[in-house]
Formats: sequence, structure tokens, C-alpha cells
Amino acid sequence: MEAFMNRYMLKGIGLLSMLFSISCDSGDIFSTGDTTSEGVSVRGTFELLNMEVFPQKYDMIFGAFGQDEASALSSVNVLKPSNMNEVELSIDNVPENAVSVKLCLTNSGRQVVYTFFEYALDDDRTSDIDLPVAQIDLLEYDRIQRLVFQQYNCVSCHQGAAGASDLLLTDGESYKAMVNIPSVHSDKFRVKPGDSDNSFLLDVLTDDNVVSYPHTGLVTRSEDIDMLRIWIEKGCPQN
Ligand code: HEC
Repeated sequence: MEAFMNRYMLKGIGLLSMLFSISCDSGDIFSTGDTTSEGVSVRGTFELLNMEVFPQKYDMIFGAFGQDEASALSSVNVLKPSNMNEVELSIDNVPENAVSVKLCLTNSGRQVVYTFFEYALDDDRTSDIDLPVAQIDLLEYDRIQRLVFQQYNCVSCHQGAAGASDLLLTDGESYKAMVNIPSVHSDKFRVKPGDSDNSFLLDVLTDDNVVSYPHTGLVTRSEDIDMLRIWIEKGCPQN
């Protein structure tokens, strides 16, 4: 057993030094001539649920953020895992002015549009941080609220007592205003869990002829409409 362990460890060390020399040769992994202390690494393992709505046009990033919440100081892109739903991510050399790490979605301007997970960093961090495994529900209702009803400004018309069609799409109101509620402009429900054909919301967003105010140009990313359809087909989870 001991001999086996020794052999195993030696192999490991050999491999490590090989990797080390490869990365040194490439020259772009270790900073040179910089005397400031290296930042710590933050590693996280995320178990992704509802992979059908893994982002396509948005980027998913694991990033370190400073006081500016809108864009990351440094980040890694999260690629869709091919055959399982777990991703292991690491941000190396986290900048000293970082105050948190986040798993989030960004748009083409690298601005954060939605945050799934956030972890606040201690000011006086001295060693690498391994986050506990976290489950991330890609289809949480808050993503629909923010990425559809708020990002596309539905709330500008659908809010308050005078809201269009008496439909409130504001935070905390939208779910109960739509799910299992009959539409005022058709025989369908606004949203019928498990039945996207009978959910007028999708008609309004994809067909100009169903209400007097055309809505088809409002949701500019088709993946956000796909997300609504998948959410409805899955029975409208509210978590
Ligand atoms: C500029 C104002 C405006 C914006 C922005 C807007 N709507 Fe509307 N919406 C309306 C009006 C007006 C109606 C009613 C049209 C009619 O009377 O035929 C309506 C109707 C609807 C209905 C039908 C309600 C029912 O009970 O039949 C839905 C669903 C809807 N909107 C969803 C949305 C969503 C989702 C967004 C954002 C992507 C959005 N709206 C953005 C003005 C707006």
C-alpha cells in the first residue's frame, strides 16, 4: 500500500512539474516583474438545474466584482457542460479591490443582466477559497421577472392601478397576475401551466394581431421567449 502511495505521489509530482514547466514556457500564466502580492483563488462547484434554459446569446460568467456591480473585474466564461450538469470554476488571482464573486449572465456589452449566485469576500483574505457546492436553478422565476418583464420594460405600461389590461408585471405581482388567470383579450389564460398553446402571453409576444397594441418587437432576444415557453411547459415553477 505504502509503495503504491509513494509511486502514485511521485507520479503526481512529476506531472505537476511537467505542467509547471509548460506553463512557465508559455510565459503568460505567471506574472513577471510584478512585486505586488498575488491574489487568492476562489473555486466553486455549481450544479445546474433546468439545463434547457442554459443561456445561448447571453454569457454566463463566474467573476470577481468590485463596488461597480455592473461589470466584473476579472472573470471566467462558463461553458455549457456536455454530459453532466456540474461545472467547476475558478477565478485565479482575485483582484484586491474585489468585494464579491458572482455567477451571472452578461449581455454583449459585458454588463450583468442577471445574478444567480453571489458570495461576499472578506477584506483580509489570505488563502484560497473553496465555496461549498451550490445548486443553481437556471429557471428560477426571478430570472423571468428581471430578464423579461423588467429588462424589456413591460413594467412601464403594466403597473399600478391604470396598468394596461389590468395586468401587473411588477416584481412580486407578475406571477399571480398571469398564472391561471383568464386573459381579457381572448378565451385563453394569460398563462396556463403545462399548456403553452393555451397561454395568451406567448401569442401577445409573437403575434401582432391579437391585441391592439403590437408587442412583437418588444422582446428582442428569442431565447427569452423560448425561456417563457419552457417555463410554461414545465408547469410554471415559482421558485
Ligand atoms: C407601451 C405600453 C406597453 C408595453 C411596453 C407592454 N405592453 Fe402589454 N399591453 C399593452 C396594452 C395597451 C395592452 C392591451 C391591448 C388591447 O387593449 O388590445 C397590453 C396587453 C398585454 C397582454 C394581454 C393581457 C390579457 O389579459 O389579455 C399581455 C399578456 C401583455 N400585454 C404582456 C406584455 C409583456 C410581457 C410586455 C413586455 C415584453 C408588455 N406587455 C409590454 C401595453 C404595453
